[in-house]
Amino acid sequence: MTADADAKKHAGMPGGTNVLVSIDDHIAWVTLNRPDKRNAINPGIVFEMVQVLDALEMDDRAKVLVITGAGEAFSAGQDLKEYFREPDAGDPMLRERLYRANAAWQWRRLMYYPKPTIAMVNGWCFGGAFQVLIGCDLAVASNDAKFGLSEINWGIIPAGIVTKSVAMVLSQRAALYYIMTGDTFDGQTAANLGLVNFSVPASELKERTRALAKKLMEKNPHVLRAAKTAYHHVREMSWDTAAEYLASKSDQAKFRDPEKGDQKGMAQFLDAKSFRPGLGAYKRNG
Ligand code: COA
Repeated sequence: MTADADAKKHAGMPGGTNVLVSIDDHIAWVTLNRPDKRNAINPGIVFEMVQVLDALEMDDRAKVLVITGAGEAFSAGQDLKEYFREPDAGDPMLRERLYRANAAWQWRRLMYYPKPTIAMVNGWCFGGAFQVLIGCDLAVASNDAKFGLSEINWGIIPAGIVTKSVAMVLSQRAALYYIMTGDTFDGQTAANLGLVNFSVPASELKERTRALAKKLMEKNPHVLRAAKTAYHHVREMSWDTAAEYLASKSDQAKFRDPEKGDQKGMAQFLDAKSFRPGLGAYKRNG
């Protein structure tokens, strides 16, 4: 793509130089854009991502978000110079502000984001990038992507919320192995570990991710939002509390659903016999 065409694609979109956004087919492609620094997460990425997530939440053109990286990396994690060394030596209030903004986009916003999110892991994925990866609802990796919890290699623990994120998706054996050895692993291993949903050859990565995004778009967006919110909340609840919460959440979702999906779905299955819920989504315009 020429520089002009590239500029046109991102014109009028949120983001800036560190994060590029383009929307096609109702998919917002959100690209961490510091390829020379392997998309290491610096304050520029942090503050632009906060703004991008805010803007896309209200943008009807974007129905699913895909987060990926420019060049050969998804992201090499937090920027050792601009996120750690410089803020550590500077004003503690500014450092606190940076850390708060980072937590905001990497997990507080992402985990509960009102639209479906997919991490498309195209290359290197280290340290803090795991937060982003796990903060997204779903993840697809290139077979040759390289993952690593490299913190141990340079003398820190996986902080931010990385250790908690990893504990949520990996088994104890796998989590402690990678936290303690810092060994790298590829996309296929990430899929086997359940860290990503599946891994594909690099040449198919974008189209397979697009197909997944389109599948999500066939579903009722209001119910998708309620379903993912409920999932995150019930993990920390007792069984009894979860049962009560889910009953209320389910009623709330039905009550608030402008397309009254449950009634449509039931009528299409029971009366019109025009679809089978076990095999796909009801016709949202039917
Ligand atoms: N923080 C700051 N700068 C980083 C970075 C990071 N996490 N990751 C890469 N960079 C910078 C390098 O310093 C280098 O900058 P320079 O060109 O000004 O010297 C540039 O990005 C390219 O990195 P380089 O190491 O030459 O690329 P590579 O392709 O040979 O290796 C990695 C890629 C990702 C394996 C390697 O850069 C690396 O190990 N990065 C650190 C990963 C890490 O530990 N992340 C955890 C942070 S919580």
